[in-house]
Amino acid sequence: MSIDAAIQAIRERKPRRVVVMTGAGVSADSGIPTFRGPDGLWRNFRPEELATPEAFRRDPLLVWEWYEWRRGLIRDAQPNAAHEAIARLPDALVVTQNVDGLHTRAGSRDVVELHGNIFHVSCVREGNPRMHAEAFPDLPPRCECGALLRPGVVWFGEALPEDAMPRAYAALQRADLLLVIGTSGVVYPAAGLARAYDGLSIEVNPDTSLGSACTFLVPARAAEATPRIIDVILEVQS
Ligand code: APR
Repeated sequence: MSIDAAIQAIRERKPRRVVVMTGAGVSADSGIPTFRGPDGLWRNFRPEELATPEAFRRDPLLVWEWYEWRRGLIRDAQPNAAHEAIARLPDALVVTQNVDGLHTRAGSRDVVELHGNIFHVSCVREGNPRMHAEAFPDLPPRCECGALLRPGVVWFGEALPEDAMPRAYAALQRADLLLVIGTSGVVYPAAGLARAYDGLSIEVNPDTSLGSACTFLVPARAAEATPRIIDVILEVQS
């Protein structure tokens, strides 16, 4: 299936309300590793040792060393052509599984971060979530109260931010186009969003082996295909 069929459908249906759902693949073109790709993080690291509340209780230093490494990678990365194109959509809601904050850095105003943000931290005793993008001089970092700080991300087994899924579902109910970019669609509840939507939907993913829950699957990298798709959406909305 080529991008042309998807573009033709946009021209015919003239969508006005767009939801964009993204995963690690949209940031792969910014040099940030995905989780399950050939060089994915979960090929080299064990999620149960690094991305669960139990792992953090067991060895907060090990967990923080890994998150501080990822924060460094992301701090040095730049939004790519896909993030920038998505940010050109005037009223789209971006629903992302990514914790890298690159959609917001690219200029997207309405972003639901389903799995939190890697530059947010909170105190394990007081909570008090806040932004802390700079590198920590000492690991594991501590709150002024002396208790440990934890990364502001959603670990396996934890609940998503309270308003995240309700906002995403409400927007999907009104949407007339869903773009799904760079996700393997294996982690729930996020993966349920694309499957719950029965309107016009377009997936962008170079790996087509998993098939797609979407109307169209464009076998391409995000930075390559997304700008072309966004151009046509803006054309029919003008
Ligand atoms: N452009 C578009 N898609 C790409 C690109 C690219 N340049 N490179 C890889 N992909 C695709 C891969 O083919 C794969 O289907 O992106 C997808 C990335 O899948 P995952 O690594 O599983 O990432 P994601 O779907 O975001 O994972 C969901 O799992 O580990 C947890 O919390 C973590 O948010 C994450 C969640």
